[in-house]
Amino acid sequence: MTTTSDNRGTWGSKLGFILAASGSAVGLGAIWKFPYTAGQNGGGVFLLVYLACVFTVGIVMMMSEMMIGRTAKKSATSAYKELGGKHWRLAGWIGVACVFLILGFYSVVGGWTIAYIVEAIQGDILTTDGAALEKAFGDFIGTPFSSISYTLIFLFMTAAIVIAGVQSGIERICKVLMPALFILMIFLAARTLTLPGAMDGLIYLVTPDWTKLTVRMVLDALGLAVFSLSVGAGLMLAYGSYLPKETKIVNASLWIGFLAILAAILAGTMILPAVFAFGVDPAAGPGLTFITMPALFAQMAGGQIFAVLFFFLLLFAAITSSISILEPAVAFLIDEFGISRKIATFSVATANFVLLGIPAALSFSPLAEHMMLFGKNPFDLMDFIASNMLMPLGGMLAAVFVGWIVWPRIRNILDDECPPWCVHLFRFIAGVLSPALIAAVTYFLIFG
Ligand code: ALA
Repeated sequence: MTTTSDNRGTWGSKLGFILAASGSAVGLGAIWKFPYTAGQNGGGVFLLVYLACVFTVGIVMMMSEMMIGRTAKKSATSAYKELGGKHWRLAGWIGVACVFLILGFYSVVGGWTIAYIVEAIQGDILTTDGAALEKAFGDFIGTPFSSISYTLIFLFMTAAIVIAGVQSGIERICKVLMPALFILMIFLAARTLTLPGAMDGLIYLVTPDWTKLTVRMVLDALGLAVFSLSVGAGLMLAYGSYLPKETKIVNASLWIGFLAILAAILAGTMILPAVFAFGVDPAAGPGLTFITMPALFAQMAGGQIFAVLFFFLLLFAAITSSISILEPAVAFLIDEFGISRKIATFSVATANFVLLGIPAALSFSPLAEHMMLFGKNPFDLMDFIASNMLMPLGGMLAAVFVGWIVWPRIRNILDDECPPWCVHLFRFIAGVLSPALIAAVTYFLIFG
C-alpha cells in the first residue's frame, strides 16, 4: 500500500489488494479457531452451517463494507456519518470497539505462535504423547510471565509494522508466504490422513450429526464466519476505502471468501484427524492446534523443520490479520483527532495491552478464577462479545445500510459488476436475510 500525505493510500495492484485483504481474512480464525470450534460443535454439521453463513450473509456483509469504503473513501465512523448521517456513526463505533476487543485476545494467541516457534527450534515439543502435549500447553498458558511476555511481543510486532508503514512490504511477502502456507497445509493434511485412526477424524469433520444443531451452535458458526472473513468490524470497509478503481468488489469478495474457507477446511483436515489419531479430546478447546500439530511433526521425517515452518507461517498469517485489526482503530484516531499515525498506533497498542491483553493473557492462569464475568474468563468473554455479538451486529448494520439506507446511491457498483438476478439476490440477503438471521438468533438465545 502506498501511503500519502493525508495518511491514506491505495493498494499497488488488483492482486495486491486481494492478497492483502485475504491476508486479513486468513489467519488464526481459520487455522486456530475453526478446528477447535468444529471439534466442540459436532464437526460436520458445524462445517455445513459455517459454509452456509460464509456464502450468504458473510460474503454479502463483506461486499457491503467494501462498497461503503469505496464510496466514502474514509474510515468506518466518518464513512457512515458522511453517507448516512450522524446517527450512523454508531455503526463505526461498534466496529472500533470490536477491533479493540479482538486485538485483546488475538495478541494472546499470536503470542502462543511465537512461543511455539521457539519451542519448535529447541525441539522440546516433538512428542506423540497427547497427554504430555496437553500438559505442556496448559503449563505454558498458565504461567503469567510467559503468557504476558509473548502477548506483548506479538502486539508490538504488529504495532511496529503499522507505525513503520511497511504494509507494502507485507503485501509483497504475502505473494510468497500465502501460497507457501496453503501448500504446507495441503501437505500436512495429506500426511495426517495416513495416521492410524485418522479417518475417524475426517468422518467426524464431514458427517453432519443433526442432533448437534442448536441455536448456540448457529451463533458460533455465524460468529466464526464473520470472524474468519474479517467482516463486521470495519476491516473490509477500511480495505475498500483504499480499493483500486478497476478492482471488482464481487470478484474480490468471492476470492477472499474462497481462500478463507479453503484455509479453514485444510486446517480442519489437518487437525481433526490428528486429534483422533493421537487420542486428544476434539472438544479440548482453544489449545487444539497447539496440542495436536506437534504430535504430527514428531511422527514425520524432518518433523522439527516442518514444525518451525508451520508455526512461522501461522505467525505470518496472524500478523497479516492483526495489522488489519489494528488499522481501523488507528484510522479512527487519525480521522477523528487528526493525530499522527505513529502516536495513534502507539496509543491503541499500549491501551490495548494494559486494558485487555494482560487480562486475556492471564485467563488460563490460576489468577483467572478472580477475573470471571458472566461465567467466562476475560479471554473467552472478549472473544464471545467481539466474534459472536459485535461482529455479526456490525456486519448486519453494514448490510442493512447498503440494502436500505444508501441503496439508490450505491447500487451502481453492483449494477456494473454483475447481472440483475445477482443484484436482487444481494439486496435480499443484505436487506432481509441478514437482519432476520441476527434477530432470530438473538431472540432464541434470550427467550428460547
Ligand atoms: N479474519 C481474521 C482471522 O481469521 C481475524 O484471523
